[in-house]
Order: sequence, then structure tokens, then C-alpha cells
Amino acid sequence: MRGASAAALGLPALVRGQNLNSKLQIAVIGVGGRGAGNLAEAASQGDAIVALCDVNENNLKSAAGKHKEAKTYIDFRVMYGELKDYDAVVVSTAEHTHALATLPALKARKHVYCEKPLTHNVREARLIREAAKAAKVATQMGTQIHATSNYRRVVELVQGGAIGDVTEVHVWVSRAWGLQTPEEAARNGDIVTVQGRPAGAETPPDYFHWDLFLGPAAERPFHSVYFPGPKWYRWWDFGSGTMSDLGSHWNDLPFWALKLDAPLTIEAAGPPPHAELAPASMSATYEYGARGTMPPCRLTWHQGSMKPKIWEEKGIPQWGDGCLFIGSKGMLLADYGKHVLLPEDKFRDFKRQAPSIEESIGHHAEWLRACKTGAPTTCHFEYSGALTEANHLGNVAYRCGKKLVWDAAALKATNAPEADAFLARQYRKGWEI
Ligand SMILES: NC(=O)c1ccc[n+]([C@@H]2O[C@H](COP(=O)([O-])OP(=O)(O)OC[C@H]3O[C@@H](n4cnc5c(N)ncnc54)[C@H](O)[C@@H]3O)[C@@H](O)[C@H]2O)c1
Repeated sequence: MRGASAAALGLPALVRGQNLNSKLQIAVIGVGGRGAGNLAEAASQGDAIVALCDVNENNLKSAAGKHKEAKTYIDFRVMYGELKDYDAVVVSTAEHTHALATLPALKARKHVYCEKPLTHNVREARLIREAAKAAKVATQMGTQIHATSNYRRVVELVQGGAIGDVTEVHVWVSRAWGLQTPEEAARNGDIVTVQGRPAGAETPPDYFHWDLFLGPAAERPFHSVYFPGPKWYRWWDFGSGTMSDLGSHWNDLPFWALKLDAPLTIEAAGPPPHAELAPASMSATYEYGARGTMPPCRLTWHQGSMKPKIWEEKGIPQWGDGCLFIGSKGMLLADYGKHVLLPEDKFRDFKRQAPSIEESIGHHAEWLRACKTGAPTTCHFEYSGALTEANHLGNVAYRCGKKLVWDAAALKATNAPEADAFLARQYRKGWEI
């Protein structure tokens, strides 16, 4: 880390001997799509961008044009082999390379910001949690909705007892991307229609390194059904479908408000699972045990055409996406930007408590501050790793086609040895973890 000392500048000394005026040296892996925004945020406070890595040379060139001092790479394994003097890494690649791009940094005790979902599968999420714990560095998963005032006010209401004991939660998102009939795909505005792996091959664009994109995934010919992002989200080899994609943002709210961690059981419903493609529509129900004074609760995720019964029966406002907490004294319905206590008549004279959760300085800013001062982040890898494990478990239950009894400590579904195949992945030679 470069920079004048706090004392020399007459500034207050901050924890862990670092200060907010230090300049971080940041490497950024994945600089197109969401990565372009993350790069801009990482550079927004004057820290040095020392390395840029992308398998898409067009995206790399565009990022390098804005950060001329940065070294450029197409293979993050080469970058890690060469780069010694850096403090922090931002990872925004496709999901199946998140863990591979994150672990070397954690092992070298560097700070990491990684996009959601934290990893491609449950085992990788556990490995990253453990590595982050050992590294004791600043970590943050890219669930920026967590930084909103709206989420803070919802957490305060739920934890403050406004709706009593919460025993049931429903989360739903209307996005229907994934395996479905061409008619459904057209009706749902899907970005691509695909029923299985294409038979033919296409030539990858000359600026795109398909083999490096594949990374740990088994070789397969390039095809435009995978590229560009976000087409790859639906393929189990690369992504985890909508369950873990949008679940990262939406299940974050009940996870936070209800202090959820590992579920006891997980059961999913939807069309028959496909070996390679995530479904457009599915649901997953999690049972959680008591947490402190909070009673056991059941959380159900619904995506695509699936909605909670109370929504279908018009018992609540017809929001396209939402999170409904059902408590002993009422209900709370929230989305990213707003929330309402239900039934509205009952809560008309409700006096809201004064805010108690500090506002965020911004999701990326929290992480940059944490890198420099040791201040906490809200979506560090211990919290977001547990959230990611739970989201992936919805997919595991769906693919197994049965209710799983989950032993979180052993990372095993005790009643389903067949789940092992979906909890982890096979790694291509040269890309093992
Ligand atoms: N937080 C949010 O709101 C949000 C929004 C969109 C996407 N995301 C997440 O961001 C990640 C990227 O999604 P996207 O939609 O931007 O995908 P994308 O495919 O559009 O972009 C990914 C970028 O990473 C590059 N890349 C892919 N593999 C790489 C590798 N092995 N090494 C280096 N670079 C590599 C790609 O070339 C591309 O530039 C995903 O995890 C996604 O879930 C988060």
C-alpha cells in the first residue's frame, strides 16, 4: 500500500495501523459486463489499478484505455504468477471461475471483492469461507442492494418485532430465464431459447479466448448460445440459473433480517431437471431451526412463473418481485426499494422505531474503507458464503428431486449420497482447486 502516514498528514490514526489516505494497488479480473462497473467503483477513490485481466480482449482494451498504467492479462493464473506488489483484487468473471480467481488472493492475504454468487457450488463456497477466515482480510460479495436504506429499515422492523414472530417467508422473482419451451421463452422475454447442448460448433470471435473462459469446465465447442453473458448463466457448467443469481440479492434480505445460516432441510419443485440447463421456473423451500429468540421458520423461493399461494389468491399486492415476511402480528412485504406493513389498515397508526442500523457509505466504498482501516464490511465472505451455500442448495435439491436433510458441518445431505455430485464439480486439468 502506498501513501503518506496518517501522522505525517496530521490525520487521526485508524485501526490496524492503516489509514484512509493510503492508496491501494488493485488488480481487477473480469472487466466487461458487471466488471466494468466494479472497475469504475474500485478506481473511484483514487486507488491505483495495477492489473487488469479479461479473456475478452475487446473488454480488456476498453478497460486498459482508462487505466493506462495497469498491466494487462488474459489468464489470471499468469497474472497471479507475475504480480507480487498488490493489495486487493476485484473478481467479476463468470461464476464458474470465481473461486479460482479468488483463492490465490486470499492465500496471499490480499483483500477481495467478488461478484455474486460467491462461487459456482457449495463446496467452493465453503472453501472460500474458510480461506477468508484464515486470511483475515477485507472481503465483500457484490450484493450491493444490501447497502440500501430500504433493506436496513426492513431488518429493523423484523428484528424489532413489528410483525411478531416470523415463521414463514416467501421470496419471488418474475425473471424466467432458462430451460423452457420456445413459446414460454418468447412470452417471458428470455434472452435466448435453447433446449440442450447444440450439436454444431461455431468459431469464437477472434478477440475471445474460449478455452480460458471454459477454465475448470470440460471442453466443449464454442457456440453463441453461451456467449456473450448473461447467456451462460443458465448452463450448470458455468452458472447456477436464477436461484443463485437473483437469490443472492433477494434471499439476502431474509438472511439478514432473520439471522439465517444453514438450513436443516431443502426441498424443491419444478419441471424435470435437465442435466445441463437450469430451469426458467422452480421453487425451493428451506426449513431453518430456531436462532436465539427467533422461532424456526420456513423460507420458500419462487422464480419465473411460480408464485406464493397468497400472491396467486391476491391476498397481497401483486408486486412482480418481492419478499414477504409472515409473522404472528402481521406481514411485511418488501422489494429492492420499498416496503409495506400488511394489512395496511392494521398498521395505519404504527409508530416506526428510530433507525438503528447505520447507513452504508456505499457497498464498494465499505470494502475500500475496510481494506485500508480494518473496518467491517456487511457482506464479508463468512456471511455471503453461507448465503451462497443456501442458494446453491436449492439447486442441489431440485437436481436430486428429493427433500434433503442437510448436515452443514459435514457438508453432506445425510439422506442423499447422490447430492454429492451436485455439491461440487469436476475440474479440468490445470484448473483444479
Ligand atoms: N451485483 C449485480 O447486480 C450483478 C449484475 C450483473 C452481473 N453480476 C455478476 O457479475 C458476474 C459477471 O456477470 P456478467 O453479466 O457481467 O457476465 P459477462 O459475461 O457479461 O462479463 C464477465 C466479464 O468477465 C470476463 N471473464 C469471463 N471469464 C473470465 C476469466 N476466466 N478470466 C478473466 N475474465 C473473464 C468476460 O470476458 C467479461 O468481460 C456474475 O457473477 C454475475 O452474477 C452481478
